[in-house]
Amino acid sequence: MQVKQLTKAVGLPLFEQIGKRLYLTDAGRELLATCREIFDRLDAFEMAVADLKGLKQGRLRLSAVTTTKYFVPRMLGPFCKLYPGIDVEFKTTNHERLLARLSENLDDLYILSQLPEHMDISYHLFMENPLVVLAPIAHPLAFEKNISLQRLRGEPFIMREPGSGTRSSVQKLFDEHGVQVRVRLELGSNEAIKQAIAGGLGISILSRHTLGPEGTTNELAILDVEGFPILRHWYVVYLAGKQLSVVANTFFQYLLNEAKQVAI
Ligand code: PGA
Repeated sequence: MQVKQLTKAVGLPLFEQIGKRLYLTDAGRELLATCREIFDRLDAFEMAVADLKGLKQGRLRLSAVTTTKYFVPRMLGPFCKLYPGIDVEFKTTNHERLLARLSENLDDLYILSQLPEHMDISYHLFMENPLVVLAPIAHPLAFEKNISLQRLRGEPFIMREPGSGTRSSVQKLFDEHGVQVRVRLELGSNEAIKQAIAGGLGISILSRHTLGPEGTTNELAILDVEGFPILRHWYVVYLAGKQLSVVANTFFQYLLNEAKQVAI
């Protein structure tokens, strides 16, 4: 009923049905974007009023690539203790899907490692994100030094899914050096890849953050391969010109200040 009334008020259809699915029309998309903007502005207003009262209060919407789940929650702990009035929505997804969220301006802040080339964004580097070659602890290469990249050619390799930022960095390195690895398994999760390596299914390249705060485990070895670790960085990003809410700005400042204390 309400949708019908809304459609009548707008004067154009907001949805179209193709088969069993509903799709937004251009008018529907415009209305959705406008509503989101209105609700964002209202949230920002509430946060600004709370701030004037000396309170940091409201919801932080944070989206980040998958690897950040190994350190962002650890940063959020003390942040939420410091600001008990702030609630956090923390979403993790792969690089490609994160860029889709960023282009739609669905969240306050984004954390990623590979900056988008064709988007007008503000970004700040806050921490290193080294990629390392991981193998089972008893792998023969685990006892060698200065292994050439070419030696990885014969190893069964476990790769992240298409759309992953880790995958595209790994692929770029292999392409630059003309190395073709034998991809035995493709998995959409860092944690599943670690378990597969430990289970002897192959080797892989992942962020050292996936090994937790100590950067080591007793099941996996970091291979000493030439050109590694691949040095990448973590950036906190938002669309250029976006007015950060009080809460988003509070977290942004906190992240930049605290990041250096997190072990990598
Ligand atoms: P991913 O991104 O989770 O998409 O692999 C991680 C990264 O870019 O470092």
